[in-house]
Amino acid sequence: MQRSVRRTTIPDVLEVALELERKTMALYADFVRVFGDDPELRQFWFHMARHEAAHCGALMLVECILRNDPELGGETKVLFDTSTGIRLRSLLAGYRRELRRGITRERAFEMAVDLESSELEDVVVDLLQVVQDPGWRDQAVKMLIHDLSDMSYMIEKHTKDERLLARADALVERRIGRRGAAPAATGTARRRVTSSRRPR
Ligand SMILES: [Fe+2]
Ligand SMILES: [Fe+2]
Repeated sequence: MQRSVRRTTIPDVLEVALELERKTMALYADFVRVFGDDPELRQFWFHMARHEAAHCGALMLVECILRNDPELGGETKVLFDTSTGIRLRSLLAGYRRELRRGITRERAFEMAVDLESSELEDVVVDLLQVVQDPGWRDQAVKMLIHDLSDMSYMIEKHTKDERLLARADALVERRIGRRGAAPAATGTARRRVTSSRRPR
């Protein structure tokens, strides 16, 4: 498939990424309300919304630092597929319409897997590099892996959808691979680790 990858300026990418992160946060925050009857699901979606809130805050900080020192962005080239922004914007608008009509927990997980599989989180991690603080970026990637593992655990526990679970597991593996960490535990083992952290 032909993709329109072009180099945009860092402030351009920041603006689009911030808008999409805010909309993703709002969607997850709505899931908190929709699935509020189940304490575990409520907590999970709240955690996911908080994660996106942290991304919004991080992008705003990058924006501030860049405004004070525009030279910093000069070294960082963020490859951004411009069609990604457009596609994600319409995807999120469609999800909000769907949500108003009512959705199942399976569908909510499916939406989250779609969003987390997009290039948006990669773009966010890339943008953190502008600040040149490797520890900060590394922490963001660790949090991403942690949350994706949680999502995989929750999909396994709350749905019977093996295909969706495989997609969520593949997402965790892909993220760990990009980080260049040691080989990941198998999905089952990883979920067992995740579940052991949970309150009983
Ligand atoms: Fe995000
Ligand atoms: Fe995310």
